[in-house]
Parts: sequence; C-alpha cells; structure tokens
Amino acid sequence: MNAVITGVAGYVPEKILTNKDLEKIVDTNDEWIKSRTGIEQRHILGDGLGTSYMGAKAVEELLKKTNTKPEDVDLIICGTVTPDHVFPSTANIIGDMVGAKNAWSFDVNAACSGFLYALTTGSQFIETGKYKKVIVIGGDKMSSIIDYTDRTTCIIFGDGAGAVMLEPTEEEYGIQDSILYSDGAGKKHLYQKSGGSVSPATVETVANREHAVYQEGQPVFKAAVTGMADVSEEIMKKNNLEADDIAWLVPHQANLRIIDATARRMGLSTEKVMINIQKYGNTTAGTIPLCLADWESKLKKGDNVVIATFGGGFTWGAMYLKWGYNS
Ligand code: UT7
Repeated sequence: MNAVITGVAGYVPEKILTNKDLEKIVDTNDEWIKSRTGIEQRHILGDGLGTSYMGAKAVEELLKKTNTKPEDVDLIICGTVTPDHVFPSTANIIGDMVGAKNAWSFDVNAACSGFLYALTTGSQFIETGKYKKVIVIGGDKMSSIIDYTDRTTCIIFGDGAGAVMLEPTEEEYGIQDSILYSDGAGKKHLYQKSGGSVSPATVETVANREHAVYQEGQPVFKAAVTGMADVSEEIMKKNNLEADDIAWLVPHQANLRIIDATARRMGLSTEKVMINIQKYGNTTAGTIPLCLADWESKLKKGDNVVIATFGGGFTWGAMYLKWGYNS
C-alpha cells in the first residue's frame, strides 16, 4: 500500500510587504535582498490571527477540491514553529475550525523541515492500512516571531500555509522513499531564545527581543547548502534516479542560492525546479506545500518528484514520490 497525495491547496494572506517597504524600516535595499536571497516580497498575516487561520483556509479549499466531507478525515498533522498557542496544538484547532469531528491531530516541530517530517509521518498511517484520509499541513506566521529591527532576518521570512490530502493506493504512485535527519548541535545557530521552558517570558526577555528568530546567517547557509544537496543526491542514488528521470525538484525556499546549489548537484536545469521565493519569502513549514499548490496544474500523473528541505534544529531531508493525478 502506498500513500499518495490526492489534492493540494495553499493560502497566503493578502497584505504584501515588499523589499521597498522594508527599506523604510531597516537599513537594507531591494538590490541586496534580491541578489542575496532572490526575495522580492512576502505576505503578512494581520494581528489577532494565527497559523490556524491560514491552515484552515488551505484545508477548506483542499476539502472542496477533493470532494471530502470534513467528518471523513481520520488524522490532521500540522508542521509549524509558530503554533497559535503553546498548547493545544494548531492541528487540533484547525480540525475544529473545518469541522473534522472524527479526526485526531497533532503538530510536528521541525522548523523549515516541518512539512516533510509531517508528510513522512502521515504516510506511515496510510501505508499500514490504519487510515484512509490524512491531511498534512505546513504553515507558519513567521511575522509573529520576527524582530523588524533585525535586517538579517526580517528580510527573509513571510507568512503562509499549505495542505495536502494523503490517501491509500495499490498502484505504484505516491510516496516511494524519504530520508530524514536532525542534529541538535545546530541549535546555537538558529533558534528562538526565550518563550520555552528553559527561559520563559519575562520583562527582560521581551526587552531583549528574545522571542524572535535568532539566526547566524553564514553557518546556517553553509549547513543548508551541504545538507540539502547531500540528501538530495543520496535519495537519487538510493532509488537509481538520474537527473533525466526527475520531472520536478520541490526545494524548501530559504535562499535562491541554496536552491540553485541543490539543483546543480542533482544535475537539474532551472525549468525543473519549483521556485516561488520571490513572491512569498521563506514561510518555513509553508514553503513546500505552497510550491505544490502553485505548480499543481503543471504536475502530471507519474511525474517523479523530489522534495528537499533544510531548517532549524538542524533538521533536513528529502522525499521521492510519484505524482498521483492530473488536475
Ligand atoms: O530556512 C532555513 C534556514 N535558514 C537559511 O537557510 C538561511 C541561510 N542564510 C542565508 O540565507 C544568508 O546567510 C543571509 C541571507 C541570511 C545573509 O546573506 P549573506 O550573503 O550570508 O550575508 P552576510 O551575513 O555574509 O552579510 C554580508 C554583508 C554584511 O556586511 P559587511 O560585514 O560585509 O559590511 C552584512 O552586514 O551584508 C550585510 N547585510 C545586509 N545588507 C543589506 C546583512 N543583511 C543585510 C541586509 N541588507 N538585509
């Protein structure tokens, strides 16, 4: 039994923050941001709304597209590092928002790799035959943990979410393989210093902006280039895939230079690489499902697709799947 993606939907909020807008907030410029990251704009969710809002929008569209009644959903998994609350889980809240009364739910915290970790986890419940309909969401309201006085991070991140439906198939489509890694030693280069149990919120932690993303750009960049390229090559070799066999690379959208390095290592030309970083920036767990949603009309049944990611933790990995439908 394989787990196959049978539908995909994405949601980004209407409000757009352009590079020009950021020039008015921090000492940066459009040219620097575009040439160093590939980003031109990002979408920002309004105050008072959380990741669940974007996740629920994506899931509502997904249910419509796949003709699924909410009560038929068995399980909802949400990859996110910006949950609405520390508890309950955002997946739990989304389930209530969309009326998925019979589903159980949980969140996966693997930063930018959250969607791939969640997709791998969800696929296991299908492959064992236990469940028939699993929704996997990846989404983040990164603007809620960004320090808009820090030019090294505020230019990168944006808000957005996407969701896919996983169902069983006895055909040879769907998820074929995944390779996942994590290395907690990477924590010091990319994390949120306060707000967890080791350093709960105090007046000082707020004043010191410790509830925002702390990132040392260069070590993360180096680890991301190596991690994403290595694991992509590894999954190709393991599954006897040559560059010509691959129809699409779906890379996490952190930096255009990291995406290019991964594609180069895999021997893929740019036309085979899904790139929408210019529109959304880095939406953390949202990037991969948002790519799938944007490219859904171009994906063809039987296409060999490789997903690759790298994120805070460190966490990284790749998945090989055969696309299961024509839209
Ligand atoms: O999502 C998963 C994890 N995250 C990532 O994968 C992100 C990985 N890292 C990166 O993408 C890049 O390291 C950044 C985009 C964060 C930074 O780009 P960089 O090419 O590594 O820049 P840098 O940190 O080496 O800085 C180069 C220069 C510095 O100035 P000096 O010291 O050369 O005078 C920075 O102060 O650029 C300066 N700089 C900026 N200038 C204009 C840093 N940020 C900015 C900015 N605007 N926003």
